[in-house]
Amino acid sequence: MKKIAILGSTGSIGTQALDVARLNKDSFSVTALACGDNISLLKEQIKEFNPSMVSVKTEEHALEIGKLFPGLDVHWGKEGLEHVAEFSDATFLLNAVMGMRGMVPTYKAIKAHKTIALANKETLVAGGELIMEALKNEGVTMLPVDSEHSAIFQSLQGAHNPVKRILLTASGGPFRGYSLAQLKEVTLEQALKHPNWSMGRKITIDSATMMNKGLEIIEAKWLFDVDAENIEVHVHPQSIVHSAVEFFDNSVIAQMGTPDMKIPISYAMTYPKRKPCGSGSLDLFSFEKGLTFEPVDRKVFKCVDLAYEAIRMGKSYPAALNGANEVLVDMFLRKEISFIDIQNTLMKVLDEHKPCTIKYIEDVEAADEEIRRRIKEDTL
Ligand SMILES: NC(=O)c1ccc[n+]([C@@H]2O[C@H](COP(=O)([O-])OP(=O)(O)OC[C@H]3O[C@@H](n4cnc5c(N)ncnc54)[C@H](OP(=O)(O)O)[C@@H]3O)[C@@H](O)[C@H]2O)c1
Repeated sequence: MKKIAILGSTGSIGTQALDVARLNKDSFSVTALACGDNISLLKEQIKEFNPSMVSVKTEEHALEIGKLFPGLDVHWGKEGLEHVAEFSDATFLLNAVMGMRGMVPTYKAIKAHKTIALANKETLVAGGELIMEALKNEGVTMLPVDSEHSAIFQSLQGAHNPVKRILLTASGGPFRGYSLAQLKEVTLEQALKHPNWSMGRKITIDSATMMNKGLEIIEAKWLFDVDAENIEVHVHPQSIVHSAVEFFDNSVIAQMGTPDMKIPISYAMTYPKRKPCGSGSLDLFSFEKGLTFEPVDRKVFKCVDLAYEAIRMGKSYPAALNGANEVLVDMFLRKEISFIDIQNTLMKVLDEHKPCTIKYIEDVEAADEEIRRRIKEDTL
């Protein structure tokens, strides 16, 4: 019986992880849950999974949950997420909150020696070097949940040699084939319609700008210790080949499956075993028009190059890029800026960023806060 805690239990990844736990009741005991505002869903989850600890976004919500479930250990806010991450009656943490708020809980869970399944890619984008160092020092295992990184991880099972290249695939998002002029006209509603994946709103917009792939390049660099110049991105509109690895004998190993996040979520939860996860099976030979691959149009989708640039510059550049992207996506979701403003402002962010050295996790937080403040005060 694996005792698991989930950050972001009401989100796209969190609910699918609970589907996997429900299918494998003999293998998982859900001991702690954390969410933001969706407390009506959290109440259902508490009734079904009977955790001992929960955390919500506000004190008001915490009081409401506390009244309904006497005896339940209820927390809230930033500290609440950290309590759940460190909870002593869990050995395994799935971090599926959205955004930079996931980084410190990941760090605290490493210090508390939890095995970590990481969906929250922002953790590694902003604080990759310190997180990898902490994992090494504490002897803790991190299992990727992102489908591309899970594919790479699966392709590396049994490998004893270093990797020559990582081949990351990307669906291309809803605006694949668009010109820069067309991109200037797109609406929020169009951007939220991903062709293949059903995901939370922030990552759906990141997929439309292709910043999601940029964030994944940085995530892959840290997870697999491969230089960014040896990480390539290829658009693969069918989202069947989830990524591949090339070894020094030029052998390429890829992982395939339907575009269903339950597969990588389940692999992280049941690793090294594989168990039924409720996904449909892949009918590989039904793709009569074939599986296709094409280059990313970098003249239109500039976020991929911005990520390469941020990782090359190092220091606080990736944290600034990540924090700025989070604020800009939120502004776009509120219809305060246009779609193209996201990448245009991010180019300015990298141009004008005054880097600081990252020695402690607090330095990453400071770089993140500073860039958020500048964008909100419109000083960029
Ligand atoms: N969805 C995917 O297919 C996918 C694939 C690969 C990687 N990821 C990564 O996984 C992470 C989660 O993505 P998602 O698509 O599952 O996002 P999502 O559907 O938006 O869910 C986000 C979760 O975070 C919680 N949350 C938001 N603000 C919070 C706060 N202030 N305090 C505590 N909890 C808060 C939400 O709670 P409420 O809903 O209750 O407010 C929800 O449970 C992201 O880092 C994303 O990049 C997602």
